[in-house]
Amino acid sequence: MITSGMKTSNTYEWATPQQLFDELDKEFNFTLDPCCTKDNAKCRIYYTKEQDGLSHNWNGHRVFMNSPYGRHISNWLCKAFEAKAMVVCLVPARTDTRWWHDYCMKANEIRFVKGRLYFNDGEGRAPFPSAVIIFKGKMRCTKETQNKLVVNSMIVNRKPVNVQ
Ligand SMILES: C[S@@+](CC[C@H](N)C(=O)[O-])C[C@H]1O[C@@H](n2cnc3c(N)ncnc32)[C@H](O)[C@@H]1O
Repeated sequence: MITSGMKTSNTYEWATPQQLFDELDKEFNFTLDPCCTKDNAKCRIYYTKEQDGLSHNWNGHRVFMNSPYGRHISNWLCKAFEAKAMVVCLVPARTDTRWWHDYCMKANEIRFVKGRLYFNDGEGRAPFPSAVIIFKGKMRCTKETQNKLVVNSMIVNRKPVNVQ
């Protein structure tokens, strides 16, 4: 169910369930949330829509990214893929999309979430499955690395995440 609390100015907020964030934070010790509001920021250092997280340099950070779920999601995955940073992304598991194949399939690791998440801490169950995509900051989208990336995508570790 999508509730009014999830929708702000025609964009869905889909704030990360705190429990899932805490579990990942224990493992990755995040330093930057590049897309959030002041209220749903997950890290001390963060960027809001007004600051535009896409236009900032993420290099050297350990980034937790649950990006806006609209049609610009591809730009966020591209940024995560190319950043010289560890970037852990919570995304809808839309395995038929171009951005999934262009970026997620080339990630260091993909973890599929078992069951559906309750975003905004319990306001409503997501109508889509989710996945955690992990980029370790060494990926470059050049012709030279394309072959290697294809091999990586075949051996990607599909470790499940248990959230409920
Ligand atoms: C799916 S929510 C995730 C919020 C929070 N990071 C979390 O994990 O709970 C995406 C957030 O990105 C914000 N946002 C939208 N466009 C942005 C932009 N260009 N730069 C930074 N944040 C943006 C939205 O306001 C929204 O709060």
